[in-house]
Amino acid sequence: MALRARDIVNHDATLIGRKAWTDPHIYELEKRGIFAKSWLFLAHESQLPNPGDFVQAYMCETPVIVVRGADREIHANINSCTHRGLPVCRADHGNATKFVCPYHNWTYSVEGELLAIPQEKHLQSKADKGPLGLKPVPRVESWNGMYFGSFDPEIEPLDAYLGDQRWYLDAFFQRFPSGVEFVGSPQRWIINANWKLPVENQIGDVNHGPFLHSAVIPPEANREVFELGRSAVTIPGHGATFRLMPEGTPVEHVAWGFEGMSALLAPEIHDYLREIHAHAEERVGPIRARMKGLTYGVFPNLSFLWSNTAFKVSHPRGPGRVEYWCWSVVPADAPDEFKKILRGNHTTLFGPGGIIEQEDSEAWSQQYVGSRIDFADDRPYYYGLGLGEEKFHPDLPGLVSVTANEFYARHFFLRWRDALEKVED
Ligand code: FES
Ligand SMILES: [Fe+2]
Repeated sequence: MALRARDIVNHDATLIGRKAWTDPHIYELEKRGIFAKSWLFLAHESQLPNPGDFVQAYMCETPVIVVRGADREIHANINSCTHRGLPVCRADHGNATKFVCPYHNWTYSVEGELLAIPQEKHLQSKADKGPLGLKPVPRVESWNGMYFGSFDPEIEPLDAYLGDQRWYLDAFFQRFPSGVEFVGSPQRWIINANWKLPVENQIGDVNHGPFLHSAVIPPEANREVFELGRSAVTIPGHGATFRLMPEGTPVEHVAWGFEGMSALLAPEIHDYLREIHAHAEERVGPIRARMKGLTYGVFPNLSFLWSNTAFKVSHPRGPGRVEYWCWSVVPADAPDEFKKILRGNHTTLFGPGGIIEQEDSEAWSQQYVGSRIDFADDRPYYYGLGLGEEKFHPDLPGLVSVTANEFYARHFFLRWRDALEKVED
């Protein structure tokens, strides 16, 4: 009999069975119950300023072309020819006036309509091209310049889906006078781990920092996380971790980043950040001006590492593989030289060969291997740390607790379990 989600996640998600990360049937349920029913990140508007601009994206394992059409609207279509299924666009990004499939040259408009079938000039009958366009992603919506798509035509609006998570996201995305931009193409790499492992890490697991990253993260940064760090869960599956600096903290102590790593940042960056933070209150209000972000997660597979301005999507590639995409996000009005330095900082720490990324990836790969070993299925993992200690907070939306509380993961897995149960036979 097929494994059921309820057999993996117990009633309060304090115990999670190892097969959550390894079982092929569960993985298929995740596609139908989660990836077919959620809002999935596609692209940022800064990547698509002009008509014809396009980028590639994935929605789970499905390749999608995201393009700004001649109508200036954003369109998302599955990148698969309706003749025999080949991708009609192979470039990662660029500007196009049409997409031509390489196999038999069926030709599509950038918005996805089928324009021409070259073979037809030798034939008397003509195909009805109306239904033969690229398959559109049924829902595309944006928030703060970030475009998301969903395969579920009935899904709630993106605003409602994000809910109060927007309050936390805005703490970063509204912080800069001219907004943010995504720099270049994402870095991409494969990790031999389940897609949920990076996700869980970044919804709220900042407490591995002093241990796994002990050689890199300085003690004073760890102390600050333990003393001032908070986790928030606005809607189960989303999460935010940050330090809420005490009132009156000088702006240079609020400016983002692992301060102990400031050697990696040029002095001009510190000046720029000081200036931004000096005026943060006007843009995001007094509480969020004191927030010094760590990591965020948006259900199901989007992460944002505020401290190193890395925006990441964990694309599943089977139960045991992740294709990890990572963009550098920078303030749009920062001088080019600063953007370059910020990108270098992000790559040094969290790119494919990043110092911290390597340690994290190894941990996720080992957890995946540990989840597959024989004779241990009767030992689910313990997710009970801090059970019930999360509370509502007068100034912060959602349930809030210290960062050692694993409630962010329990909430994620309760949502995960419910989503899978809806599509179980
Ligand atoms: S597969 Fe695309 S034109 Fe034949
Ligand atoms: Fe880490």
